Amino acid sequence: MTSLASKLAPESIKKLIPYQSARRIGGSGRLWLNANELEQGVHYSEHASDYNRYPDFLPHDIAQAYQEYCQTEMPAVAVRGADEAIDLLIRTFCQPGKDKILISSPTYAMYEFCADALAIETIDIPLKGEAFNLDVEAIIKQAPLAKIVFLCSPNNPTGNLLSRDDIIRVLEGTQEEAIVVVDEAYIEFELAETVTNLIEQYPNLVVIRTLSKAFGLAAVRCGFILATEEVMEYVMKLIPPYPMPDCSAKIVLDALSTKGIDIAMSNTHSIIQTRQRFIDAIQNLEWIEHIYPSSTNFVLIRTHQDADLFNFLKEQGVVTRNQSHEPALKNCVRITIGSPESMQEVAELINQYSFSSL
Ligand SMILES: Cc1ncc(COP(=O)(O)O)c(C=O)c1O
Repeated sequence: MTSLASKLAPESIKKLIPYQSARRIGGSGRLWLNANELEQGVHYSEHASDYNRYPDFLPHDIAQAYQEYCQTEMPAVAVRGADEAIDLLIRTFCQPGKDKILISSPTYAMYEFCADALAIETIDIPLKGEAFNLDVEAIIKQAPLAKIVFLCSPNNPTGNLLSRDDIIRVLEGTQEEAIVVVDEAYIEFELAETVTNLIEQYPNLVVIRTLSKAFGLAAVRCGFILATEEVMEYVMKLIPPYPMPDCSAKIVLDALSTKGIDIAMSNTHSIIQTRQRFIDAIQNLEWIEHIYPSSTNFVLIRTHQDADLFNFLKEQGVVTRNQSHEPALKNCVRITIGSPESMQEVAELINQYSFSSL
């Protein structure tokens, strides 16, 4: 007998495969290097308070602190993570069953997932070659069919920064056609390359950010949308009634203080150094075919087709992310850069694997 829930659920939801977040996949292990989090917690401050009142509708002090951090006068709004920003933007600009979004795979899976959940089609113009560059001409050609073009820079899971010139060409070529969302979740690892300073010149540009990565606050759930007043006016229509829990807001304000930003930038600097040491320690192994250049807190590694690095590390209690399901990323594993000690241990394990498998 069909249940009521099954009778009521739309076809698009029935077909939907839930987004496989690192937590949802779960597993067991000692070193968790699969979700691009900061491995060690950051102690910004202690807070105790009453939580009986609803929080601010829009915490303006957070928006202002974030604008100062980004050195922009463009409106900023805090949401519960960049994931909420993606969903909100799609719901604001796309009509279910009618509109489309455009992505360049391999990229962050949530763009397509959020679109699927709303019965919004996704056009994919894959990134080109081993350098994972944008196919600018094809994107501009297809953009009139889409309401939103999602660009992820630096890109997850490939780790590369998109060329600023290419982003500008996309912005120019789509000015009358589509909103271009640039997801800068990892931008702190290459901060000078941000495109927030282009919003004024290109009103179709929207930038999304997060405190989950370089700021190490994944559990606090705080992301940002930066866009023109005109775009914000529509986003505000759909924003949840209380977008930021008070306990999160307090931690966010500490993180965005001068001291907090200094801590985050210093952690970022250490991760970049640890990343280089990790790459140096494994790059000469014969069975590692390519370590992709990274502008993030993770590295993507392509191995020889007979190697099974993901499962080898898993057996050793090191949880990473297998990317082989992506056609362009066969035999690829994505490893988050953890503490120097963790990465030394992982590098040693990887070196041992080379001896036992060849
Ligand atoms: C490219 C990209 N965008 C957005 C997110 C989601 O970030 P948040 O934790 O702020 O929802 C992630 C998380 O892995 C990501 O890799």
